Amino acid sequence: MPANKKLLVLPGDGIGPEVMGEVRRIIDWMDRRRSLSFEIEEGLVGGGAIDAVGSPCPDETVAKARAADAVLFGSVGGPKWDSLPFEQRPELGILRLRKDLGLFANLRPAVVLDPLVEASSLKPDIVRGVDIMVVRETVGGVYFGEPRGVETLPDGKRRGFDTDVYHEDEIARVARVAFDLARKRRNKVTSVEKANVMQSGRLWRAVVGEVHKAEYPDVQLENMYADNCAMQLCSRPKQFDVILGNNLFGDVLSDLAAALTGSLGMLPSATLGAVDPTTGKRHALYEPIHGSAPDIAGKGVANPCAQMLSFAMLLRWSFGLEEDAKLLEAAIEKVLAGGLRTADIMQPGMARVGTSVMGEAVVRELEKLSA
Ligand code: IPM
Ligand code: MG
Repeated sequence: MPANKKLLVLPGDGIGPEVMGEVRRIIDWMDRRRSLSFEIEEGLVGGGAIDAVGSPCPDETVAKARAADAVLFGSVGGPKWDSLPFEQRPELGILRLRKDLGLFANLRPAVVLDPLVEASSLKPDIVRGVDIMVVRETVGGVYFGEPRGVETLPDGKRRGFDTDVYHEDEIARVARVAFDLARKRRNKVTSVEKANVMQSGRLWRAVVGEVHKAEYPDVQLENMYADNCAMQLCSRPKQFDVILGNNLFGDVLSDLAAALTGSLGMLPSATLGAVDPTTGKRHALYEPIHGSAPDIAGKGVANPCAQMLSFAMLLRWSFGLEEDAKLLEAAIEKVLAGGLRTADIMQPGMARVGTSVMGEAVVRELEKLSA
């Protein structure tokens, strides 16, 4: 029996607990059938944590996350907490985890699966075969930069401000993640910024270029303004392999890339910290790209695939379990190819099912594929 793998599971709010339930089914199956034993802790985050203990990211959750080998995160937020003061919003749960654990590189794959080509709002010819990895910086930039605030001026008018700031080391380390990934893919990085209007963007372009020249001359590097990238994603998405961007542009462009695939309900992500030179380990958090979807929460109709695919990324990136990750990904693709669809990816002629039927079907497929 391999050593226990310590997982912290944070279901969060909205559809988080429902889709996480389907992952628990997969974990149980892997436990039984593939002798992968996980030691699972649960924790509070987001609105639920605000209600229970008055903080969107309690210290106890951060401590558990530090102690775990990997964190599987659901989603946070909902209308119930929308009117809370800015400093108490559920979203701070994920932001604090990223910051405190030093999770600086967010990997967001946008892959158009063949069975779902028709679910995209773009023409099938444009999106068929799209396979993009957005690498987003997640502990710097305008999300955390100081000064920030809303101040009242002497004339009584208010003024809001944020600071987009990057140290060159922050740019270099996330650029290395993007170049390393590109080498395992189609060997191309498109680095996005607004070097034409932003000083931090000018530095971004310069540093990415330096890292490229010194360490990755074999990888193709292209610099692109972020607005142009948004346009190109919609018109010629197949030109992209790895897209590298700062916290804000990465946030926006990863949603856009995700939309190309036809459903946010299908897309996972991984956020990685630096490898500790002594232990060889790194902190890592895995979460679906979709949010808490309060409009459908509790109805049993949410698509569990993104959460399950996030677990596949966890198997691959935190534990090197490539074979098990591939098995799970293949099982999900098989279920889709067989015609089952949750509401978000429903197509004419397909069978519409809810969260748990989808989860059960994936387990059945795992069973078949591994027989
Ligand atoms: C994301 C989300 C978060 C972000 C929110 C919930 C704070 O949009 O993970 O992309 O902006 O980073
Ligand atoms: Mg976002």
